[in-house]
Amino acid sequence: MDKAAAAQGQSVDWEVLESAAVAAMKNAYAPYSKFAVGAAALTTDGRIVSGCNVENASYGLTLCAECALVGNLHMTGGGLLRAFYCVDADGTVLMPCGRCRQLLYEFRAPDMELMTTQGIRTMDQVLPDAFGPQHLEETR
Ligand code: THU
Repeated sequence: MDKAAAAQGQSVDWEVLESAAVAAMKNAYAPYSKFAVGAAALTTDGRIVSGCNVENASYGLTLCAECALVGNLHMTGGGLLRAFYCVDADGTVLMPCGRCRQLLYEFRAPDMELMTTQGIRTMDQVLPDAFGPQHLEETR
């Protein structure tokens, strides 16, 4: 059994993820929107990765917190995401935007769960019928 398979069904400490997301949010660079965001995720091998939003004077170049999170995932050993939590400046749960759902989809573990405003949801629930790497393989 590979590591990802072994980690399947691994229990998630949502409070730890919430704290990591809040800590990440405190590093946000959001002078334009004034909307700080922090995201944190548990990897299948037990690491916590996180990120904050980083805005730009050229507004459209803004990087969402999830962009930093997936960069952090790769900088710290890669792997897959088991659980995800995103917060705003008040520490309130935030839904990842559509583009970020796609970013997260790429690195989802089969049993990935997300904390949402509606409670815990699967990746398929927040991004049904997603386009992914599997579609590129089908056309080759
Ligand atoms: N933002 C994120 O960081 N992640 C999301 O999923 C939603 C939006 C940021 C981008 C921008 O800096 C601010 O929130 C307002 O849109």
